[in-house]
Amino acid sequence: MEEGLVIRDATAADAPAIVAIGRELVEDGDTYVFPPATTDDELKAYWLSPAGRTFVAVLDQHPVGCYFLRSNYPGRGRHVANASYAVARRFTRRGIGRAMAEHSLELARQLGFQAMQFNLVVSTNEAAVTLWRTLGFRIVGTLPKVFDHPTRGQVDAYVMHRLL
Ligand SMILES: CC(C)(COP(=O)(O)OP(=O)(O)OC[C@H]1O[C@@H](n2cnc3c(N)ncnc32)[C@H](O)[C@@H]1OP(=O)(O)O)[C@@H](O)C(=O)NCCC(=O)NCCS
Repeated sequence: MEEGLVIRDATAADAPAIVAIGRELVEDGDTYVFPPATTDDELKAYWLSPAGRTFVAVLDQHPVGCYFLRSNYPGRGRHVANASYAVARRFTRRGIGRAMAEHSLELARQLGFQAMQFNLVVSTNEAAVTLWRTLGFRIVGTLPKVFDHPTRGQVDAYVMHRLL
């Protein structure tokens, strides 16, 4: 793991950095369904929604990644967690995504969730699919051509799941 990396609850002061990370996702357009016209307010509402908990991965006091943990469904689905993750482009491949994922799995366990489910892992997102597999997630379903990839056209997405 990246030396000096701290993962902590996000605060309102982290919003600009989180929005900047989200902006890269919108620009790349190959991992999340955010449309190109997504506004900063929409990114903020997604990543800092009161429906869950937001964490930031911080290096030298600057957020370089973030994740958002929530119930996958309310009510009778509330024992299954769901999470979204993003690492700033220039900090990828340094173990930050893995550190956040491990942090989220441990937190989800502590909160009493019994499983973690990802509903739309784009099949061409090699980084995510590889990372989730190495953390014990299985592909439990393939959604045919549900994601409109900016360069590859409509591609499949996976539902990935693991018990906690
Ligand atoms: C997916 C994401 C969170 C991974 O974060 P990261 O910090 O780059 O990942 P890590 O450095 O912790 O990598 C962990 C492992 O994932 C795999 N991995 C990461 N990037 C990869 C890539 N580009 N190609 C193949 N495997 C990759 C490797 O197994 C890697 O382990 P290794 O470095 O020992 O080989 C990051 O790439 C990201 O934010 N992508 C855009 C948003 C996104 O896709 N979010 C997830 C949606 S389901």
